[in-house]
Amino acid sequence: MNAPVSPAPISASAAAPGWTPEIAAAVGGLAADPQHPTGLPAPFYTDESMLLLERQTVLASGWTALAFGADVPKSGDLFPVDLAGLPLLLVRGRDRELRVFHNVCRHRGMKLVAEPGHAGRVIKCPYHAWCYRLDGALSATPNVGGPGVHECAGFDPGDFGLMPVRSGVWHDTVFVNLDGTAPPLDEALAPLKARWAAFEDAPLFTEVGFGFGFELATNWKLPIENYLESYHLPTIHPGLNRFSRLEDHYNIAGPGGIAGQGSTVCRPPMDEQGRRLPTLAGLPEEWLEKAEYIAVFPNVMFGVHRDHLYSVIATPVAPGRTTERARIYCYSPDGLADELRPLRETTTEVWRGIFAEDVIAVEGMQAGRHSAAFDGGALTPVMDAATRHYHVWLARGLTGALTGR
Ligand code: FES
Ligand SMILES: [Fe+2]
Repeated sequence: MNAPVSPAPISASAAAPGWTPEIAAAVGGLAADPQHPTGLPAPFYTDESMLLLERQTVLASGWTALAFGADVPKSGDLFPVDLAGLPLLLVRGRDRELRVFHNVCRHRGMKLVAEPGHAGRVIKCPYHAWCYRLDGALSATPNVGGPGVHECAGFDPGDFGLMPVRSGVWHDTVFVNLDGTAPPLDEALAPLKARWAAFEDAPLFTEVGFGFGFELATNWKLPIENYLESYHLPTIHPGLNRFSRLEDHYNIAGPGGIAGQGSTVCRPPMDEQGRRLPTLAGLPEEWLEKAEYIAVFPNVMFGVHRDHLYSVIATPVAPGRTTERARIYCYSPDGLADELRPLRETTTEVWRGIFAEDVIAVEGMQAGRHSAAFDGGALTPVMDAATRHYHVWLARGLTGALTGR
């Protein structure tokens, strides 16, 4: 088996022409001072070279969310994801293990899998038909030694398996650590696992259609930043604000790479017969009336409620383009019963609607970052505390990777 690919040392000047002295000073200010008044400068949202720099730093050095286990439910299922242009491939093995590989053929570098699908027993390259087992081993090299000769001297297939990417799963969200240096996923998630201990062992059940997605004309960080604050509730979500008001919310900023908000009001959808999706068995009473919405940095948003959990991944496509994908889970197979389908549809529509309301905000902030007048904005002490926590985390990730600190 090949070792995970380690990136070359990072040189900001080589990697990112946009990394000017002014940008370095702004990011350095954020990294050094958690009370720094402004946020990340505009090029972090608009400049291709800065996205590539992020791909080598804040998207590579920790645990970045990639997809859902539910994307590959059966052995042989394949799910390709391009992460800021880096082609990756999720595979469910014959042993049911979920693996992530670089989505590139070891022969001539063809992108191996273009669309989600099912491989059967092997993954076949569309170019010269080299075949890889589901565990990544190269298993067939047709005609490699000439017509009808499938071996060749001096070429050992054992050296040319798919390149693995370190991965881990929490609440069905698949995370990758691209540079292979992060602490174990459990350790990285420890603060949130402790906070949400009541949900840690929750069994999760989902189905096709229990979720939603958006293609957004915005940078990948803005959906996360927007998720961290309840400040916009009265303006962007007037319907939601009628029963879960601004004053019902509290900020969460850390510890570690998490931030978000909680609401002391949780009103799960109810159908005409008064039924809800099943409440998580054994859930402590305090969770019957509240819900929390926390982003795990850099790019995934979780929400926990008494009757369902969701995960929403923001995948960078280009500086101003992001794919947002959500999966919703209930806690019992009974929640997937046919007679509760309307409740699942209502739950899905509630969240799809709220995230749709946010599109105007996240795309509007992106448009504003093309203004010469945008200087990083103002991170105010109370309502933007969680956003500031995210920016400081990003700035430390950027500068740490660039300076080796
Ligand atoms: S590039 Fe894949 S088999 Fe040649
Ligand atoms: Fe919102």
